[in-house]
Amino acid sequence: MKEQIEALRQEAIARITAASSLQALDEVRVAFLGRKGRVTEILRGLAQAAPEERREIGQKANALKDILTAALETRLAELEGTLKQQKAQEQSVDLSLPGRCVPQGHVHVLNQIMEEIVGIFTQMGFQVALGPDIETEYYNFDALNTPDDHPARDSHDTFFVKPGVVLRTQTSPVQIRVMEQTPPPVAVIVPGRVYRVDLDATHSPMFVQMEGLLVDKGITFADLKGTLMHFIHAFFGPDIKVRFRPHFFPFTEPSAEVDILWTARDRHTGEVKSKWLEILGCGMVHPQVFKNVSYDYETYSGYAFGLGLDRIAMVKHAISSITHLYENDLRFLEQF
Ligand code: DAH
Repeated sequence: MKEQIEALRQEAIARITAASSLQALDEVRVAFLGRKGRVTEILRGLAQAAPEERREIGQKANALKDILTAALETRLAELEGTLKQQKAQEQSVDLSLPGRCVPQGHVHVLNQIMEEIVGIFTQMGFQVALGPDIETEYYNFDALNTPDDHPARDSHDTFFVKPGVVLRTQTSPVQIRVMEQTPPPVAVIVPGRVYRVDLDATHSPMFVQMEGLLVDKGITFADLKGTLMHFIHAFFGPDIKVRFRPHFFPFTEPSAEVDILWTARDRHTGEVKSKWLEILGCGMVHPQVFKNVSYDYETYSGYAFGLGLDRIAMVKHAISSITHLYENDLRFLEQF
């Protein structure tokens, strides 16, 4: 019997040590010390033992019960300790983990260009004015000395919203809106989207212009040229090749277009080509336009210009097609 108790002790201790969860440990306790546990059975069986053995077996079994109770308690404390630690580890913050990367957007290349150009002109004293994208034919054409039967209307393939109302084909109507609101002198620039039924490598149905208008006493074409050359050199650098070319606009007289030498790699052939690209129209405000806004054209004169911001972006960044600017291809946009 004594050997049996010793074997029981060894087995119980081994199982207690091996128990790796609270549940497993409790199963060991029930198996040995529970109501039908193996140590409990021995104590219960004492009555049948031979009287000379009874005392010794009783002592040994009771001692085993105490040993196992203590061993169970120790193991329980150990297991609870590890559990606590595990929980703490799960909940703790690992400061060495690399952060999650939040993709960051940036200003679109056209808006970058617009901001830069606005900066150059505001430094010269121009103020920013804005007008509506949906415009009346009156502001978009008539007030700009472009009546219904004027051939210049043909060059603007216009989106009509309804009779008399168009998507503005140019930012020039804002000249009229500004002069109607403000007596001279004025000096404004007008960035904004414009719309034409048009699509190829250098034309897009929606594109971006920036209008300029300056009216004061004694303004001449030399002021216009000086201002535009200052802008062009500030923006493209002093080495850029520029040419002023006489042109016709209904709302300016005389008028000119300005070209810039554009070098870009063809997207299909890979060939690097240079050609003159028109980036703006300009001229001296036509007296009829002044009449339309009740400005005194005997006292005041002024110049106006309209920049094509898409073209300017294409020259600045050697972009081969205007469509890149509106396709929202991240591989393109992320370069800027
Ligand atoms: N509005 C013209 C266009 O879209 C550009 C332009 C030319 C604007 C001459 C002007 C100007 O203010 O004076 O083709």
